[in-house]
Amino acid sequence: MPRFLSAQPDARLITLPWDTPLAEWPADKLVALPRGISRHVVRFVRVGTEVYAVKEVLEHLAVHEYRLLRDLTRIDIPSVEANGVVLNRFDADGEPLDPALITKHLQFSLPYRSLFSRGVRQDTVNRLLDAMVVLLARLHLSGFLWGDVSLSNTLFRRDAGSYAAYLVDAETGELHDELTNGQREHDLTIARTNLFGEFCDLEAGGLLDASLDPLELVHAIENRYRELWGELTGVEEFDGSEMHRIESRVRRLNALGFDVAELDITTDFAGSTIRIQPKVVDAGHHSRRLMRLTGLDTEENQARRLLNDLDYYRARTDQQNADEAIVAHQWLTERFEPVVNSVPQEMRGKLEPAELYHEVLEHRWYLSERAGQEVDANEAAQSYISSVLHRLPDEAVAVSTEETLTGLANPYDPSMGFADGDDEKPYDPWEDSDEGPSEDEEPAAAYLDIAALRARTSKPTLRD
Ligand SMILES: Nc1ncnc2c1ncn2[C@@H]1O[C@H](COP(=O)(O)OP(=O)(O)O)[C@@H](O)[C@H]1O
Ligand SMILES: [Mg+2]
Repeated sequence: MPRFLSAQPDARLITLPWDTPLAEWPADKLVALPRGISRHVVRFVRVGTEVYAVKEVLEHLAVHEYRLLRDLTRIDIPSVEANGVVLNRFDADGEPLDPALITKHLQFSLPYRSLFSRGVRQDTVNRLLDAMVVLLARLHLSGFLWGDVSLSNTLFRRDAGSYAAYLVDAETGELHDELTNGQREHDLTIARTNLFGEFCDLEAGGLLDASLDPLELVHAIENRYRELWGELTGVEEFDGSEMHRIESRVRRLNALGFDVAELDITTDFAGSTIRIQPKVVDAGHHSRRLMRLTGLDTEENQARRLLNDLDYYRARTDQQNADEAIVAHQWLTERFEPVVNSVPQEMRGKLEPAELYHEVLEHRWYLSERAGQEVDANEAAQSYISSVLHRLPDEAVAVSTEETLTGLANPYDPSMGFADGDDEKPYDPWEDSDEGPSEDEEPAAAYLDIAALRARTSKPTLRD
């Protein structure tokens, strides 16, 4: 009899055919979804309305990964959520089968291959790299040594024009109190090797924009990581007359989406030299604030966007001095919810509510520019739904199955590659930028452009 190791057992999982090797599970139990390349047999199963990823893997690895993923969830690192491990599996002849690790399918997540296979702009690649860099820095801040940094082991979710990266494969990971520089370098070396290989692969498959070079992309990731790490943890020394630099440092960290929980400040005897170093920084500066004010659980850039809209709402309704929590509640019920609720039920699987709201704001900006006057939010929502949303693929579970998975040799196992035949890229409305606001908009400052950030925050300014 199989044995289940789980903190939140889902009874419906117990009746799955655990006495059959995963590769032979009947199709009626499986869902065909795009995913990264894997060493092990991985399948997505649907039980009721829930989708789980099941991976067949050796016992000690399954248990190790299960525990690590639980730890990562506990310390609030973006990763897939482990549900359990199935041990003691035997087939009908009594032969042992490998245990299975069960994780919850990460909703609205996109594996890099399905992003690239639809053709991506250079801009998009940059945003994907930034998301990876932030994930790696967050993992390292928490003492997590990944050991297998790669695009295949990362999932991406849309985040208000950018992406948020999630860890999906923790098999080689180790959680320490703190990482040494040598350990971080070890992860970077692995990242370089794996990512270079993956970009070359994309290039060979004609999926990488001709203007992008695998080696340069790998260098870009490494440089941005080092810059971000320096900003998050580096020592800064300055003259006693430049005290504003303490605040500048905190502001830069906030702008990067981090909160400073502990800042170490030391001075020499005369107080003429100040030395500061962030000791504890936590990611999620904006998303925590939005959560506190509205209860909405969003990605960091979505939170930034929604908080800006909330500020705008406060100004428009002339409530600068009103209690923040009350205004936030009004904004939620008068602005956010009406827009989100105006989406017809059958289209709700296309975008998460916060991402949808962000898209409607973008669309409103575009309509208002065109009309030469501000367009009403509900009108913008209607226009967005009828002109854009209806043609976007469903991403709640994943990118529309037919669009991305036809042509595969085995739709349940993308790592088996494509069946022979035409390999024309499916059309991707997301990367089709003929219309919409992004064209004439200023280039978004979403990149980890630390130099620009320093320039912006280096002067003492009045608090806004
Ligand atoms: N919980 C999950 N949600 C979404 N996709 C998943 C999940 N678990 C695995 N996948 C997909 O399956 C792929 C392989 O999983 P992974 O754990 O990396 O297996 P392996 O250890 O064999 O490399 C991943 O790249 C990812 O695309
Ligand atoms: Mg993997």
